[in-house]
Amino acid sequence: MLSTQEQIKTALKAHNAVLVAHYYVDAKLQVLAEETGGIVSDSLEMARFGQNSDADLIIVAGVKFMGETAKILSPEKTVLVLDDNATCSLDEECPIDQFSAFCDQHPDRTVVVYANTSAQVKARADWVVTSGSAPNVVKHLKANGKKILWAPDKHLGHYVKNETGADMLLWQGACVVHERFKANALKALKKLCPEAAVLVHPESPQSVVDLADVVGSTTTLIDAVKNRSETTFIIATDNGIFHKMHEVAPNKKLIEAPTMGKGADCESCAHCEWMAMNTLENCLSTLQTGNNEIFINTDIRKKAKNAIQKLLDFTA
Ligand code: 13P
Ligand code: SF4
Repeated sequence: MLSTQEQIKTALKAHNAVLVAHYYVDAKLQVLAEETGGIVSDSLEMARFGQNSDADLIIVAGVKFMGETAKILSPEKTVLVLDDNATCSLDEECPIDQFSAFCDQHPDRTVVVYANTSAQVKARADWVVTSGSAPNVVKHLKANGKKILWAPDKHLGHYVKNETGADMLLWQGACVVHERFKANALKALKKLCPEAAVLVHPESPQSVVDLADVVGSTTTLIDAVKNRSETTFIIATDNGIFHKMHEVAPNKKLIEAPTMGKGADCESCAHCEWMAMNTLENCLSTLQTGNNEIFINTDIRKKAKNAIQKLLDFTA
């Protein structure tokens, strides 16, 4: 009997399929993506990779908005996600009707949305950005005299506003995972480990970002573990990222930033429940059944593509 991994490898070949995984999913899926010629990356590179691949079928191990972005950029390919209930609090907290009404109230503002949004919200936007690209895109817009309407992540919005000094009106969404990091408990941990560098994803609250040595996207944080001289790191992002960090820097010590106050007992709070829905088993069943296909209305897709393409051109 072949292992689940071997069966997935065989099915990927048979369907001319590629597995594209986010850094937050199960390490076994990350390993498999790389072993089979796919990729493990941040959300921007996942989309770019799918677009440039010769595969007919893209299997997305991540959450729904990542599948939608892949489909927007590769409409001729079939895109499947591993579980169509795997969503994102940022996407859920920004429903298109309310968001569209908000945009209509502020017609003088350039609409910039984070990648963690639905295809409809992207279609309503002028620009789509990722955490890694947001400060530079907003700097560029500010230099061209633009005022910004930003959605959906208020914490990333605050961070970008502070970094750029741009005039930004913020939608009030948040990532349920990064919101759990606690500044006071992190201060206490820093005292216990003064030698550690603190790495923070900018979806975290401002009070946590203020304690960081490095603030950035998942890729930036992995590069920091690899390249910085410290040997101990406190990490404030989803703990799925530890797999890649251990791989690029096997001798460095990684500590999860605290997600609860003093005395709390929580072993894996810093893990996204939707990312955790991605398993080897549902990867195999998705390949076997063709379930969980992403479909997007053509008009929405074309408008969303324009907003994403601006980012791809800007970051090329
Ligand atoms: P990036 O990988 O683009 O930094 O995004 C983090 C995230 O929360 C994805 O869900
Ligand atoms: Fe969304 Fe946060 Fe989960 Fe990323 S980690 S998918 S931003 S809820």
